[in-house]
Amino acid sequence: MAEIRIRNTNERISGEANVKAFLDKQEVLYEHWNADKLPAELQGKFSLTDEEKSQILATFDEEIRDLASRRGYQTWDIVALSDATPNLDELLKKFEQVHTHTEDEVRAITAGKGIFIIKGTDDVGYFDVELEAGDVISVPEHKPHFFTLMENRQIVAVRLFIETEGWIAHPFEDPTFQKA
Ligand SMILES: [Fe+2]
Repeated sequence: MAEIRIRNTNERISGEANVKAFLDKQEVLYEHWNADKLPAELQGKFSLTDEEKSQILATFDEEIRDLASRRGYQTWDIVALSDATPNLDELLKKFEQVHTHTEDEVRAITAGKGIFIIKGTDDVGYFDVELEAGDVISVPEHKPHFFTLMENRQIVAVRLFIETEGWIAHPFEDPTFQKA
């Protein structure tokens, strides 16, 4: 289940209802899928063949189509990152820049863990959303954020798009942002 850490105060928010209420207020969509639907051998696999990616998409087909029909997503795919990913450190360096998109950024975590760092309302500032398998998040369009991995450096997620062009990252220069 997702957990929030508010960077300015180090306050943590946990428990599905509290997390959802906080994210609702920040206009971040949060939902949950049953990650146990995934065959056991895929729950701990982070280097995936095309066939395995298709198997993951087929497992969550109903959830994906439900989300897509409610929110207008047209295409979806699987992204997998781990130490087996070539140039993972370089990739993460690129990821860890605050940016915005003209489209919302949707991720449904199917295995592993990851963090979205999001710029909240002025009274909150930046907060981390720590995600694990089953967590579904959508960072709204134009909301400054970035994504990174957690210590285990392993994640598999479904990405959904309205149009892939809407998803280009635009750097967001923020002198108030401090890495922590
Ligand atoms: Fe992004």
